[in-house]
Amino acid sequence: MNVHDSEKLAGLLEREGYSRAESASDAGVILLNTCSIREKAAEKVFSELGRLQIIKRARPDLILGVCGCVAQQEGERIFRRAPYVDFVIGPRATASLPKILENLRSHGRKQAGQQLDLEQRDDSIEFPFDEIRRTGGATGKAFVTVIEGCNHRCTYCIVPTTRGREICRDMDGVLDEVRSLREQNVIEIEFLGQTVNAYRDSRGRTLADLLLAAAKIDGLRRIRFTTSHPAQMTERLMDAMAEAGPVVCPYLHLPVQSGSSAVLKRMRRGYDRDGYLSKIEGLRRRIPGISLGTDVIVGFPLETEAEFEETLTLLDEVEYDTVYAFSYSPRPGTAALSLGSSPSEMVRLERLQHLLAHQAGIQKIRNRRWIGRETEVLVESPSKMDPAKWSGRTPEHRVVNFPGSTEPGRLERVTVTGSSTFSLKGELSGGIA
Ligand code: 5AD
Ligand code: SF4
Repeated sequence: MNVHDSEKLAGLLEREGYSRAESASDAGVILLNTCSIREKAAEKVFSELGRLQIIKRARPDLILGVCGCVAQQEGERIFRRAPYVDFVIGPRATASLPKILENLRSHGRKQAGQQLDLEQRDDSIEFPFDEIRRTGGATGKAFVTVIEGCNHRCTYCIVPTTRGREICRDMDGVLDEVRSLREQNVIEIEFLGQTVNAYRDSRGRTLADLLLAAAKIDGLRRIRFTTSHPAQMTERLMDAMAEAGPVVCPYLHLPVQSGSSAVLKRMRRGYDRDGYLSKIEGLRRRIPGISLGTDVIVGFPLETEAEFEETLTLLDEVEYDTVYAFSYSPRPGTAALSLGSSPSEMVRLERLQHLLAHQAGIQKIRNRRWIGRETEVLVESPSKMDPAKWSGRTPEHRVVNFPGSTEPGRLERVTVTGSSTFSLKGELSGGIA
């Protein structure tokens, strides 16, 4: 989602006549798009600003701005910690970027002063889609925002504060964007939202309707959506995923956060362990080969060893293909701060390591089952580990590395010949998928 927000910021700059600089040291404007989900991400902003200060000292006319969730969260405090920053705008205020830049350019920093806009405007979601500066061009993939913000109040989470309440785009506008992307040879769309499955437009059309309508668009080969909230994973949505057919990829990212109902209650997630497992059962019943991914937080306030172990047994029960696990990070202004103390940092890290090792075992076995099978891979780029090979993803979101002649954006049939914890190895089967 942040990558896509950066694509929109880049689009706004291009509309104003800017073009991409080769490097930070010859840029006229530098924007930092920031994340505040965990303390570590937020702190990174200030170390990066420290590095940029050196460039700014040498070239005082450089315009330096901070955007995104840290901007919203920290506001004026950014100017105090980094007085050389020229402006700060929140994620729902980016439309004011051109005006702010114009101010600074024509009056200079001294006269214009430091600019701040943290207003959470509702029109933030209606971005002119032909002006988004998409970076995934050659890979045939594109992100499409359908809903922004979040109406949940998970007790650990800063997102509702920084991103504001939910706001949905009109479904017709979303479909127009998908059609226009198809004209640019995009074959894979990923619908985005902090709670994408809460999508409901002003005429009551939901994500289920959107999937069914998008699935009919000629030439579109893959549809994904992220991130879904388990409490809003309705029967109707699961039915629509199955009904739309394989164009809706058999992969779902469904963050569980914890396997313990007591912890889930303290997190205010709105479901318990059994409720979550019944959603998984509903998905597997409708889409037998579906792959699943999740997010987990370990070391939440008051988490006992027994509660942590319930998360391990949940991983065994569900058998995810991807798990993003995080050590709990206290965030300013969140309700979890007053729940009581969280396990010590050492315990949190031990639990994190334990969980990751446990999951690695599960993934290894699951990936091994793919050996000998033929699958469809959308080629993304040369493999990071071995640039002589290509890397792409299957519909189930598994990474496959393989040698041979192809290029990014092509769909290839690949036979799986080997596997590891995080990826598969394969050989081209010949013929374009
Ligand atoms: N501490 C640790 N992890 C967090 N996440 C959200 N807030 C926190 C926090 N305070 C994780 C959740 C979420 C993912 C995007 O980040 O698992 O699903
Ligand atoms: Fe945060 Fe919960 Fe909203 Fe997800 S659903 S963005 S975890 S408050």
